[in-house]
Amino acid sequence: MSAKWNREHTLRGAKVAFFIVALIPLYMLVQRMVLGDLGPDPAQVITESLGKAALQLLLATLFMTPLRKLTGWNGWIRCRRMIGLFAFFYAVLHVMAFLQLILGWGDLWATFTRRPYIIMGAAAFLLLVPLALTSTQKMMKRTGRMWKPLHRLIYPAAIFAWLHFLWQARSNLLEMVVYGLVLAALLAIRAHWFGVSSLVPLKKT
Ligand code: HEM
Repeated sequence: MSAKWNREHTLRGAKVAFFIVALIPLYMLVQRMVLGDLGPDPAQVITESLGKAALQLLLATLFMTPLRKLTGWNGWIRCRRMIGLFAFFYAVLHVMAFLQLILGWGDLWATFTRRPYIIMGAAAFLLLVPLALTSTQKMMKRTGRMWKPLHRLIYPAAIFAWLHFLWQARSNLLEMVVYGLVLAALLAIRAHWFGVSSLVPLKKT
């Protein structure tokens, strides 16, 4: 068997593994819904679980470049798009759950600007939209040299998402600090390896 066949086989295995892992939060949430195990405030549990999954997958997406650099395996980068799209998928479900189960679809402007933490969440979400829309090979070709700087929007998106999480200050503080440290470490590693300018979105190249 050729080395190329082996590489493709490993990559396919990794993609299937990531696909299954990324679906676990949804599976667990649906299981709790079916078992009626969502506690006294199901709307909050559903919204929070989906938001948490979006943040975790956003951080997982940011792990892919350091992993490639550390291991030399390009497959991490080829899995990155799928993980990023799953982060967006959970963010969409999170926002829909919030609108459907908590505040309703009435005056969206008033809804999204009612609290600072919601403004942060909305900013993170808005930054993720162009990333998801330009994640295909076709859009990568079409956006050309702009693609890379555009996709650096993932850094402010992750920072806003974490601030959104922190600002609610309802969950466990230690958990928020751990997410913050992971994010800070990922940004610091990137700045160290590729320079601070590699974190600046849409800068002139
Ligand atoms: C328009 C955009 C967004 C809105 C309106 C929104 C709204 C909310 C609300 C209302 C909560 C609190 C739920 C509750 O306790 O009742 C929440 C929690 C959360 N959201 Fe968002 N969110 C938005 C975007 C995002 C994005 C883009 C992410 C991540 C990528 C995110 C991650 C989180 C996390 C991690 C939590 C905390 C979960 C926990 O406490 O366990 N949100 N969001």
